[in-house]
Amino acid sequence: MSAVELGALAADIAREAGELAKRRRGEGVSLAATKSTLADIVTEADREVEQLIRERLRTERPGDGFLGEETGAERGSTGLTWVVDPIDGTVNYAYGIGAYSVSIAVVEGEPDPERWDGVAAAVSAPALGELFTAARGEGAWLDGIRLRVTDETPAGALLGTGFGYDPATHDGDLAMVRRVMTMARDLRRMGSAAIDLSYVAAGRLDGFFERGLNPWDFAAGAILVREAGGAVSRLELDAARPMLVAGGAAVHDRLRSIVSGAGTGG
Ligand code: IPD
Ligand code: CA
Repeated sequence: MSAVELGALAADIAREAGELAKRRRGEGVSLAATKSTLADIVTEADREVEQLIRERLRTERPGDGFLGEETGAERGSTGLTWVVDPIDGTVNYAYGIGAYSVSIAVVEGEPDPERWDGVAAAVSAPALGELFTAARGEGAWLDGIRLRVTDETPAGALLGTGFGYDPATHDGDLAMVRRVMTMARDLRRMGSAAIDLSYVAAGRLDGFFERGLNPWDFAAGAILVREAGGAVSRLELDAARPMLVAGGAAVHDRLRSIVSGAGTGG
């Protein structure tokens, strides 16, 4: 299958999975468990949606690997791996805020974000009625419109960020926000990293930064940003919570230098 065909499959599955998530949300949400901390929740729908995605891939791409938030990793034999977050923005989902998404990426090579090459991606935000897609070399798209990151930020950058679930990390993350605000016109904390990155691709945000994301949070979004002409970097890879920065070239570079302590961004 070509990157375009894989992208079409990712989009089709993300659309179906998104509809299931939305339907379940309408029926009410039941909490299944808490994970790393009390704030880190999983709903019954997270599990059911991942199951649906996994079963569809098992039927349509039986030899491919899988890396999912809820059901873990399985190596494949084709060199391709599907990296899946069934519901990114679970806290929004549980609270009835529409900024949640199904994030599906297909990547080539070792199932390690530093080594894989993104092939295609789909991020479905069913409550918002939007489906973002990208395929390697073919650009990033929303409803037939080609996406492009922003180039100019004369009034400062509109940035997205997020915070981890562990309260012990909040002070450090807030100190980082203080530093990054020197280059910002304003800040958004939407609650789904996959949507944040889709918005960077769409030029709705100029840039994004967050520590401690998992591969399924950013795999699809990073493909979208790069295919929309932007850049994505992961920094401090040996740290417990590596930093991810994304944006158009200029914003990405300024974020990168502020985060690494080299400048205030002006
Ligand atoms: C979370 C969201 C959130 C980000 C957290 C992630 P989840 O994913 O992407 O925006 O700030 O770091 O863990 O838990 O809702 O799938
Ligand atoms: Ca997530």
